[in-house]
Amino acid sequence: MLFRQLFDKESSTYTYLLAEQQTQEAILVDPVLEQVERDLQLLRELGLSLRYCLETHIHADHITGTAKLREMTGCLGIVPDKAQASCANRHIQDGEILKLANMKIEAIATPGHTDSHMAYLVNQDKVLTGDALFIRGCGRTDFQSGDAGILFDSVTQRLFTLPDETLVYPCHDYRGHGVSTIGEEKRWNPRFVGRDRQNFIEFMASVDLPEPKKIMEAVPANERCGKLLFSR
Ligand SMILES: [Fe+2]
Repeated sequence: MLFRQLFDKESSTYTYLLAEQQTQEAILVDPVLEQVERDLQLLRELGLSLRYCLETHIHADHITGTAKLREMTGCLGIVPDKAQASCANRHIQDGEILKLANMKIEAIATPGHTDSHMAYLVNQDKVLTGDALFIRGCGRTDFQSGDAGILFDSVTQRLFTLPDETLVYPCHDYRGHGVSTIGEEKRWNPRFVGRDRQNFIEFMASVDLPEPKKIMEAVPANERCGKLLFSR
């Protein structure tokens, strides 16, 4: 299986390219609009055809590349169950397995950052954690129906129960990390180590972050799979 981690510097977003060499079919997870040309070129160079664009959640900090990639390649857009995106071709449910040749991608409901967030377990050994779990951090819970208690439950009951050696690939990183493991995060993630649910809720309430620059533009655009009302 081919697995690539791609980065958008402006929003510090990781996009993941997953492909089955046997059939040359590919999936992009959390594509970024400004990086569509890069992604299309890479697909061309690797001789891959894009089957799906898969979102971990409706993002507030960048606009998804799904609508443009769908236009250019005819791929299908998949979003988590209950995500407000009627433009999607398909919604994926907790526990559902998306198959592409020998590749298996299992959706794990991990709400808390938003109320309809999925992590994706790829072939049992890598988990794309979206904005639920970052390397030594986690997604914020102060907008988009975020809920710190629910995020604590998602991380401790759904992600930290995966085998310790599972590789952790987040949707964002702000400190230069690329990959971690579940065991490493259980041991060293300062948001969770030594905290119970109540303590985590209090801590998240004390984190004072500015709103993402693009929130007013990104959320409504992402509810249309990244289709802009006005071209820019
Ligand atoms: Fe997010």
